Amino acid sequence: MYRTHTCGELRLENKNSEATLAGWVQTVRKISASLYFVDLRDRYGITQLCFTGDSIRLLDENPLGREFVLQATGMVNERSNKNANLPTGDIELLVTSFKILNKSAVPPFTIQDDTDGGDDLRMKYRFLDLRRNAVKKNLELRYAVNRAARNYLHQKQFMDIETPFLIKSTPEGARDFVVPSRMNPGQFYALPQSPQTFKQLLMVSGYDRYYQIVKCFRDEDLRADRQPEFTQIDCEMAFVEQEDILNMFEGMVKHIFKEVKGIDYTEKVERMTWEDAMWQFGNDKPDIRFGMKLLNLKKPATVYSDKQDQPALISGADFKVFDEAETVLAVAIPGCSEYTRKQTDELTEWVKRPQIGMKGLVFIKCNTDGTYKSSVDKFYSEERLKAIADAAGAAPGDLVLLLAGAEERTRKAASELRLEMAERLGLRKKEEFKLLWVLDFPLFEYDEEGNRWVARHHPFTSPKPSQIETMINNNPVIENAAEYLKHPYATIKANAYDMVLNGNEIGGGSIRIFQRELQEKMFAALGMDKEEQLHKFGFLLGAFEYGAPPHGGIAFGFDRLCAILGGSESIRDFIAFPKNNAGRDVMLDAPATIDDKQFEELQIKLDLKN
Ligand code: AMO
Repeated sequence: MYRTHTCGELRLENKNSEATLAGWVQTVRKISASLYFVDLRDRYGITQLCFTGDSIRLLDENPLGREFVLQATGMVNERSNKNANLPTGDIELLVTSFKILNKSAVPPFTIQDDTDGGDDLRMKYRFLDLRRNAVKKNLELRYAVNRAARNYLHQKQFMDIETPFLIKSTPEGARDFVVPSRMNPGQFYALPQSPQTFKQLLMVSGYDRYYQIVKCFRDEDLRADRQPEFTQIDCEMAFVEQEDILNMFEGMVKHIFKEVKGIDYTEKVERMTWEDAMWQFGNDKPDIRFGMKLLNLKKPATVYSDKQDQPALISGADFKVFDEAETVLAVAIPGCSEYTRKQTDELTEWVKRPQIGMKGLVFIKCNTDGTYKSSVDKFYSEERLKAIADAAGAAPGDLVLLLAGAEERTRKAASELRLEMAERLGLRKKEEFKLLWVLDFPLFEYDEEGNRWVARHHPFTSPKPSQIETMINNNPVIENAAEYLKHPYATIKANAYDMVLNGNEIGGGSIRIFQRELQEKMFAALGMDKEEQLHKFGFLLGAFEYGAPPHGGIAFGFDRLCAILGGSESIRDFIAFPKNNAGRDVMLDAPATIDDKQFEELQIKLDLKN
């Protein structure tokens, strides 16, 4: 053995005993000609090595540099100058002998919590970045989440079953990564966007509780919470209804909270329909750590809920901006009635930025003295302003912000504005965790480009049982693109659910179709003719003929869950070797070209279009 203890292990109890440590040199401090301190680091911590007397001579002959790999033996000594910030800070090792196990080039950035290395440099030398405590903590948290999930699922009799990576396309809404087959020239495997069809086949095979912590591959545009290869906690159960799935996986996430963060999440996870999420929060993954619900002041132009229909509050005032807008949304911002002109101007500029895309912002100040002041005083009496503010749920001292415009854009903008204001007011606390189930998603989404229906979740998701007839009895063809919302398919809701944590979608799943006829109908609704259905999914349709049980499942974004639990927006920090925003591994310099010989073996000739 190279060591008797780790660098995080020695304490006062070990005083006057001999120990050997091995690790990396973090710092060398020359205190005087006869005294050197070296901080030695490994995965477990840092221990101070003290070089005096004979060991100094050896040190002068064999100078140490940062990140040298060192083995040192000595006596554990009580420090006169203790460091309360280090678990090993009460002791030091009085070195009697040491050996340089390997030298190190000068690292391109300092390997400390506050590093001087920029993002690109740290990614290029990710193996060094991983030595930093901050990154190590993230990977430790990831492993803790992994363990907690496995323990819970194992207890509940789920079985971990691996599924292949070289497969045929599984649609999850992204592009496939493809792999050419040497043995089948001209043919390609697709890497799984998820193990969706395999887990369903496992249900047909009778493995009624399956899980896998598994890599998924999606060729899509990257964001802070998206990577081209990412990990899911992928689960499926047979003989279940939606309620069973919600309860089982609510249990799993609560178990993870307890094991990883020590949080007792005892309350029931809130539930919200997709429609309410869209209208009250402006998006399908609301952050419910704070209120500030949106008020819709126009009759929605869509088929969605008109529960909040309040047009009378704003109509008849001759204010063209509101009269002509498809949608007007209001949100009450707590405690901001005293915003200055400069502050409201700044907010107006904020909503006009191209990313938000609004033409302007209207505000109502609900003063604490009971008066109401607004940028549209000219059009609305104080009484009417009060009525609007009241409807928006504003209290004295609040500021009501109103946005008007085309429905989708206004809704997105209001959602962004709500989140931005909450951020500014410190209402999005990293250490507060609020889960939410979003239910009753639409089964179909309208694809403008193709004037056709696409699956909102994926094509294996079942409609609400009461709406199966609507699906079967109506022709999917959209005669009038402008009125697609009037098509019966627009009203069909899915047996699908998403789990949302602090405004992030951490999981999604559905109860599946398990009858061949309904699955065929679904494929047809998505514009697949019989031939294409058989070519792409013949294996699944065939399997459904051999006693497929009712089943359903869910997959959690493992990286996302870890990032949120670790208080970060970026999943990259929780992945050992992530890709950058252009999908590149800058350490490996991948993707890269391949040898001519490889092309030859694959019988592929490269002919790039551009
Ligand atoms: P879905 O596509 O919703 O469902 O994915 C499940 C969860 O995976 C996470 N996720 C991602 N995380 C990082 N990078 C990405 N590119 C990425 N894409 C998705 C999200 C998401 O909630 N087969 C279905 C699940 C099922 O129906 O059981 C599926 O994959 O957190």
